[in-house]
Amino acid sequence: MKRILLALGLISTLLFAFACERKGGPGAGGQTGPIVVGYYGDLTGRTSNFGQSTKNGVEMAADEINKAGGISGRQIQILSEDDEGRPEKAATVVTKLIDQDRVIALLGEVASGNSLAAAPKAQAAKVPMISPSSTNPAVTAVGDYIFRVCFIDPFQGDVMAKFAANTLKAKKAAIMLDFNSPYSRGLTEFFEASFTKLGGQIVNKQSYTQGDRDYKGQLTAIRSTNPDVIYVPGYYGEVGVIAKQAKQLDIKAPLLGGDGWDSTQLWDLGGDSLNGDYISNHYSVDDPSPAIQKFVADYKARYGNVPDALAALGYDAMKVLADSIKRAGTTEEPKLRDAIAATKNFTGVTGNISIDGQRNAVKPAVVLKLQDRKYVYVETIYPEGMTPPAGAPATSGAAPASAPPASSPATSASPGKP
Ligand code: PHE
Repeated sequence: MKRILLALGLISTLLFAFACERKGGPGAGGQTGPIVVGYYGDLTGRTSNFGQSTKNGVEMAADEINKAGGISGRQIQILSEDDEGRPEKAATVVTKLIDQDRVIALLGEVASGNSLAAAPKAQAAKVPMISPSSTNPAVTAVGDYIFRVCFIDPFQGDVMAKFAANTLKAKKAAIMLDFNSPYSRGLTEFFEASFTKLGGQIVNKQSYTQGDRDYKGQLTAIRSTNPDVIYVPGYYGEVGVIAKQAKQLDIKAPLLGGDGWDSTQLWDLGGDSLNGDYISNHYSVDDPSPAIQKFVADYKARYGNVPDALAALGYDAMKVLADSIKRAGTTEEPKLRDAIAATKNFTGVTGNISIDGQRNAVKPAVVLKLQDRKYVYVETIYPEGMTPPAGAPATSGAAPASAPPASSPATSASPGKP
C-alpha cells in the first residue's frame, strides 16, 4: 500500500512538473490559482491621464468579477506596468509581462503608436492582447492574437467629416496634425477622404510634434486660408494649448477633434478657449441608459471623479476578457484566443461589442460639444449597416440620433464659435 501511494505521489509530482514546464509556470495557462492579466499604459508621461483612467476602469471591472466569485472560482490578478507613453518602453514592459510574469492576456495600450510597438511581442508569444481604445486600423492587423473593443479610425474620421459637412455645413476645412503619431496621421487621412468626398475642400494642412509649445506659426498660416472648421486629431496635452493659441489669434472657426481630446486635463490647458469645439468619442456620461448611469455612479463612488471614455473602455476590455475566459473554459491557447474572437453582442458600457473578422469592434460613435468644462452630448452616429437599438431614432450620416438633453445646445450650430 505504502509503495503504491509513493508511486502515485511520484507520478503526480512528475505530471505537475510537466504541466508547469509546458505551461511556463504561474499565469501561463495554469488552470488553478489566480488568473494573471497584464495591464500596460502611460502612468507618468505626456498621456498619463489615458493610462491612469484606463487602469482605473480595468481594476474596477476585475474587482467586480472577483467579488462575484471570480471566474470558475479563480480570482483575477492585474499586474500593471508603466510605459511612460513611449513606444520602445511599451515593447519592453510587455515583454516583461509575458516572459517574467507569465500573464495569460494583455490589456493595453491606449495610444495607437504604443499598441503598434507592443503588439508584435504579444503576437509572437501568442498571448492575446486586447487594446481598450487604440483606434488606428494597423493595430489589430499585426496578427490574430491582437484585438480591440473600440471602433476604428476610418469610421471615426468619417463621423467628424460628416458632422462638419452635414451638420455644421462646413465647406472648407484645415487640418493640424501630430506628425509622429500614427493615430493623428490616420485620422487626418480618413477625415480628408470623407470630407472631400462630401464636396468639402481641405484648404490647409499643418503639422506639429508631441511636446511642442508654440503653434502660432501653423495657426497663422491656417487663419489666412479662412477655413470653416479646423480638424485637430491629436492628444489633449497639445490640443489644449492649440485651442488657447487659436483663440489668442482670434480664430473663430471651431476646432474639431477625436477621442484623443478626452481628458479632464484638456480643460486645465485650454479653458474657455475650447467652448464651441466638437469631438467624436466612444460614449457619453450623459447617456441616460441605466447601465451607463450605474457605471458612472459606481466609478464616482470609487474614484471620486466622472469616468471618461478611457475608463469605460478599460472596464469593457476587462469584462470582455473575463467573458471570453468563461466561454473558453480555460486560459490556454488557442482556445482563449478563439473565444475572444467569437465575442458577439457583449453588453458593454460603451455599447454592444461584437468582434469582427479583423478583430475590431463595430460600434457607434458619439459627437460631443465642448462647453464650460463639459463634454455635452450632441448625437450618436452608427456605422453603415448597423441598426440602432430599439428606441433610438434611426440615423444615417450625421443626422441627430436623438434629441439632445435639455441642457445641450442645438445641434444645427453653424460654423463659428460664440
Ligand atoms: N484612439 C486613440 C489612439 O488610438 C487613443 C484614445 C482613445 C485616446 C480614447 C482617448 C480616448 O491613439
